Amino acid sequence: MDFKGYIENNQERFISELFELLRIPSISANSNHDKDTRAAAELLISHFQNLGLDECEICETKGHPIVYGEKIINKNLPTVLVYGHYDVQPVDPIELWDQDPFKPYIKKTLIHPEGAIFSRGACDDKGQMFMHLKALETVMTQDQMPCNVKFMIEGEEEVGSDNLEIFVKENKSKLSNDIVLVSDTGMIDKNTPSITTGLRGLSYMEIELTGPNRDLHSGHYGGTVANPINMISKIISSLHNSKNQITIPGFYDDVVEISESERSESRKIPFDLKDFKKSIKINSVHGEDGFSTTERQSIRPALDVNGIWGGYSGEGAKTVLPSKAYAKISMRLVPNQNWKKISSLFSDHINNICPKGVTVKIKEHHGGQPYIAPTNTVGFRAASKAYEEVFNKLPFATKDGGSIPIIALFEKELNSKTILMGFGLDSDAIHSPNEHYGISNFLMGIETISRFYYHFTDLSTNPQIH
Ligand code: BES
Ligand code: MN
Ligand code: MN
Repeated sequence: MDFKGYIENNQERFISELFELLRIPSISANSNHDKDTRAAAELLISHFQNLGLDECEICETKGHPIVYGEKIINKNLPTVLVYGHYDVQPVDPIELWDQDPFKPYIKKTLIHPEGAIFSRGACDDKGQMFMHLKALETVMTQDQMPCNVKFMIEGEEEVGSDNLEIFVKENKSKLSNDIVLVSDTGMIDKNTPSITTGLRGLSYMEIELTGPNRDLHSGHYGGTVANPINMISKIISSLHNSKNQITIPGFYDDVVEISESERSESRKIPFDLKDFKKSIKINSVHGEDGFSTTERQSIRPALDVNGIWGGYSGEGAKTVLPSKAYAKISMRLVPNQNWKKISSLFSDHINNICPKGVTVKIKEHHGGQPYIAPTNTVGFRAASKAYEEVFNKLPFATKDGGSIPIIALFEKELNSKTILMGFGLDSDAIHSPNEHYGISNFLMGIETISRFYYHFTDLSTNPQIH
């Protein structure tokens, strides 16, 4: 049984198979790409079949399909449910990419001297999800699976997983498991592994303000009519106070305050503020008074404008007092905030503060609950051992600022805990131009996942001897 050797000997093929998947522009948000999203699902199914998974099926939904396959070797052994997503974010602004986002290529970087794979989806999540297929191949050719495995890969994570939510609720026994395993988060740095034990929740809203019934001459009308863009700016700037706290009444009511001991524990996690600022070229950080950058990013909620538009933004100057203004606003949530409650607090507040002279329409996009994973579990210990063997270091437990809304639903509907075994780096530029994924992260990830299956089975079936 030589996992490392097998992975090294087959790495070129692994990478070229991943390239084939990366070439498919499976952008879930854009219906022009519906054929491509389906093509990605079909390619995955053919991989499942080649791996010898049973019950391989493309499960249709109202949106993009879910790809499912399983290998049940013995009902008495533990079952791992692997979740990932084959859809990717849109690529705009396309002009900032060095090359075509769907023509993957390898380039060395300072952080990845061995080379990194550049492509949309290289890290989020095709590259990370594909490690699970190759880990299964590795274990099955070197040995046999020590436990049962079910794969469920969706095509709508980047648009809120609405249809997966329905699928999970309708297929509870099919999806029954002892642990969910996911690689769709990050690690601290290339040599410092971490297991994500917290994800923030999300409430995503859109505001539309309407003033006059048409765009007006800003000279003739300016100063006499409420300008929707002026008004939306006022509304937005009032959403934070001078301590950078969010001003929506009731917003913090359910936020769990972190104990001093937990705060001091989290200070042990390596973080360099200088590097943080340098990596995104800012001269100062910004956020809620009384909290560190790490805390602001993980255990505290946040409210951000994702986009704002209206009026004239074309070439030159057009004198216009616009009829409409829009903003997309996301709120990142922490335990025990409830995204539906936060969405309605937000709507009520915006309606209350909407200035005279304009009317407001509020649209709720998607959302999800925050997730906290316990560390005193068999799954966490098994993952720690696997990391230790591959990286020669025990992983840190970290809380991430991002969201994977379906993870909290796995707990609610399937009563399952999730192990978030992510191998991406902050510098991998997910959702940004020139997204990439380190080849060594990819290969070490495959090995860590392979080893996890053994430790998980071992610890689940013989808890007393460990
Ligand atoms: N893989 C990310 C989430 C992530 C990234 C978590 C890094 C932790 C660290 C996922 O694909 C994602 O982008 N999620 C969205 C939410 C979704 C509903 C669009 C997010 O966090 O913005
Ligand atoms: Mn992802
Ligand atoms: Mn994403």
